[in-house]
Amino acid sequence: MYYPDEVVGEVLRSNDIVDIISPYVKLKRSGANYFGLCPFHNEKSPSFSVSREKQIFYCFGCGAGGNALTFLMKYENASFGEAMQMLADRSGITLPSVNYSEEAKKRDQKREELLSINKEAATYYFHLLRSEKGAVGMRYLLQRGLTEETMRIFGLGFANGSANDLTAHLRKKGFSDEAILESGVAAFDERSGLHDKFWNRVMFPIQDVTGRVIGFGGRVMGDAKPKYLNSPETPVFDKSRNLYGLSLARRSRAGHFILCEGYMDVIAMHQAGFSQAVASLGTSFTEGQAAVLKRYVQDVILSYDSDTAGTTAALRNMEILQKAGIGCRVLDLTPYKDPDEFIKNAGKEAFAERIRDAENAFFFKIRMKEKEYRMDDPAQRTRFYREIARALCGFADALERENYLKAIAAKYFIGEEELRKAVASYSRVGGEEVARRPRPALRSAAGEASAKKQEEAQLKNEALLLTHLAEDPEFYRLAEPYLSADDFSEGISKRAAEGLFRQLNAQEGNQPVNVSAIIASFETEEEQQAAAGLFQQKLSVRGAPGTDEDRESHRVYLDVACAVKRASIARLAESAQDETTLERIIQSRKALKALSALAK
Ligand code: CTP
Ligand code: MN
Repeated sequence: MYYPDEVVGEVLRSNDIVDIISPYVKLKRSGANYFGLCPFHNEKSPSFSVSREKQIFYCFGCGAGGNALTFLMKYENASFGEAMQMLADRSGITLPSVNYSEEAKKRDQKREELLSINKEAATYYFHLLRSEKGAVGMRYLLQRGLTEETMRIFGLGFANGSANDLTAHLRKKGFSDEAILESGVAAFDERSGLHDKFWNRVMFPIQDVTGRVIGFGGRVMGDAKPKYLNSPETPVFDKSRNLYGLSLARRSRAGHFILCEGYMDVIAMHQAGFSQAVASLGTSFTEGQAAVLKRYVQDVILSYDSDTAGTTAALRNMEILQKAGIGCRVLDLTPYKDPDEFIKNAGKEAFAERIRDAENAFFFKIRMKEKEYRMDDPAQRTRFYREIARALCGFADALERENYLKAIAAKYFIGEEELRKAVASYSRVGGEEVARRPRPALRSAAGEASAKKQEEAQLKNEALLLTHLAEDPEFYRLAEPYLSADDFSEGISKRAAEGLFRQLNAQEGNQPVNVSAIIASFETEEEQQAAAGLFQQKLSVRGAPGTDEDRESHRVYLDVACAVKRASIARLAESAQDETTLERIIQSRKALKALSALAK
């Protein structure tokens, strides 16, 4: 860790995780925990929990978890140092100058270095566009209808057509070849060595939600191929969780986003005053991106090209958005191809009108289906109605389904009652089909799978045990003589156990365990997440202290402790057969015997 444990502990203690998370996630209290919709994956019912007592969060759906620092790192895409600073600022703590561990220091420095290279490159391209060498780029962008103001807002730039000058410039600024290569603004080959990746292109810097440049898209100025060249993914450029234009769009007051295909579309819309426009990054739209959008809006309007590829993408992304619980409508841009072209030809008022009239996603889906059938053929017509019935079955909510059914029946002149029957019969048939479908043959590498399962079960047992040890001091006193951190699997589990036993041994009385501090002793976000998961596992037996039920739950957890012990002995037996190991096996067997006696 870069800060001494005491400092991290103080910063964590002086902030309440519920206060930290509340502005980001709507939390509702339920028992000892708070629950909300997980911001790290798509879900409709809340499985994201925050424990005030333990000062940790954990999502039972996707396994995301950690303490307040982990949360900020994950949500704000922040480094550990940045997250520390945010919490320290909130509670008025002045952080000491940092004392990095080698590994953490390297990782943070790498990110910072890549970000500064991107920033330097963006500045370089920016100035070049406005210089004599960039005149062709400037001419191209002006001819595409962009104002200089818009170019400035998006930080547009130009990559030289004649020289390897960005690489030279970055070297002069003191960046290493290795870092320049990793940032993706340069490439390497045997013949020419390290050289600029982007040549003779207008440059679109891609920013993260906070406005830092994380990559680039570069467009040719004519019809050459490829039309766009994009930076590769790097430690700072995750294409599945960032969107073009988001740092601006998130400040828009429209109440929705417009999701479109291209950089130029986003820019054209912003220039026309529709600053709610965003686009994916030359890759397909992902669930991760939907989760990011959901932080800011409830509704997204899709604006894809009106060709087949655009329609297919719209239908696909609609599913993703709906799965994320985002309301979805579709923009009709006919007779124009895309928003850029539409605004240029029809103007912004007409565009605003199209936004108001955007078609409900379900109607859009049905209308697209309709095109596949010939309505003058009764057989095809019937099939089309079945399709509608099938699509209606997709609404789990009966009231919603009924509303759509009525609307669709009216729209396509189908009898409501008829359609209702079709839906009922379809859902029945659908159900049977599901039940009869043969199970996929999964068990090709049966041995491997079962070993993996066993390992998972062991880790699950360890987590159950750790959670219970941390929560119930009485149980700890009961089981502690027979357990040690060495009984836990190598890695996170064992390190968490070490932290827990250390704390519990040092404690007098019944102070609650500081789980958050144990999590803070892990460096990476992944580790912290895994560690938080270890302290949030519960069996559904739990009685009030002192009751029969409570003693019953001790017994159950003693069984879990036995399972952990048994696995630990098995691991020992598999390892080196030296004298110390043998001695440990003997001791462990004794302990297991004592534990099983307690469990009886
Ligand atoms: N794209 C890409 N690589 C390509 C073509 C397209 O990465 N060879 C991505 C870019 O992110 C682009 C988006 O797909 O913005 C949409 O492509 P397209 O519609 O062809 O480009 P526009 O941005 O609309 O640009 P223009 O208006 O100049 O055609
Ligand atoms: Mn386009």
